[in-house]
Amino acid sequence: MRVGILTGGGDCPGLNAAIRAVVRKGFDAYGYDFLGIRNGWAGLIEGQVEPVSLYSVSGILNRGGTFLGTSRTNPFKGQGALERLKENVKKYELNVIVAIGGEDTLGVAQRLFEIGIPTVGIPKTIDNDLAGTDYTFGFDTAVSIATEAIDRLHTTAESHQRVMVVEVMGRHTGWIAVASGIAGGADCILIPEIPFSIDDVSNLIIKRHKKGKNFSIVVVAEGAKAKEQKDYITQSKKVDDFGHIILGGVGDWIGKRIEEKTGLETRVTILGHIQRGGSPTAYDRILATRFGIKAADLIHQKKFGLMVSLKGNTVDSVTLAEAVVKTKTVDLKFYEIAKVFFG
Ligand code: F6P
Repeated sequence: MRVGILTGGGDCPGLNAAIRAVVRKGFDAYGYDFLGIRNGWAGLIEGQVEPVSLYSVSGILNRGGTFLGTSRTNPFKGQGALERLKENVKKYELNVIVAIGGEDTLGVAQRLFEIGIPTVGIPKTIDNDLAGTDYTFGFDTAVSIATEAIDRLHTTAESHQRVMVVEVMGRHTGWIAVASGIAGGADCILIPEIPFSIDDVSNLIIKRHKKGKNFSIVVVAEGAKAKEQKDYITQSKKVDDFGHIILGGVGDWIGKRIEEKTGLETRVTILGHIQRGGSPTAYDRILATRFGIKAADLIHQKKFGLMVSLKGNTVDSVTLAEAVVKTKTVDLKFYEIAKVFFG
């Protein structure tokens, strides 16, 4: 059995741990032969593949990023790309492709499965927005980083009696914002699922100040939208291969208006890619390892077109189709917990 393995989409902590687990279990228990595909689907279109051995995956468990490289390439978009990808699947005699990615990468895995190429998916994304799984790896690390940042911003906010706006990642969903906001004790959390009114946010801060709390922490997901704006608030209009706009900038938009409306000194911090870099937490290393092992087992059982998933504390699988059909938005009961501490 020859297994191709790739990582696609935005990198996240835990990718190396997942690759290591698939290779270790696949090689030791089932005798698979592995080819690493460079830079996501781009590598399969261009034929950039290389053997992956036990030696290649040694010492990578704790390393962030992905040693295979990644990209946001969509083989269903570029002219002739899909044909070249199919030729390379034949040329390199790949029996199955393990795709480690989020909704875009796994969406491609699903479409390839539909046209007869065996695939198995492993869910990753700091955004935690993939359906079919309770958690994706990368999320816990991003939340830990954002929480630490909020803790640090708290002490400086308090010292200067300022409003601190913290922009975290989360394109379609506010999972990182809600989780880090609860953990960090945010006074207001704004998420893409619920358009916000800048007047309401400002009034909340004014009320809080009147109660004698003379600093505030506002956590905002980069994909949050103001009620009065139709589109995302961004700094650039560039889109990637999957049609996603490059976000970032809503924090500045909010910070400026809060200062104008409340008269309180306001500062903005955009955490950006800091949330995706560096070593995975122990939780993410363990989840990525469990997912990788399950993927190797699915291949052994010749169960393709599936994504490994976490349900409660059990690692199981769902169809790729089920995983990519919709985005997993923030559970509003979880957001209600955060709201208890607003203001
Ligand atoms: O998809 C994960 C994510 O981190 C989003 O939260 C963010 O909008 C996006 O990736 C950023 O992508 P890039 O690194 O390509 O700018």
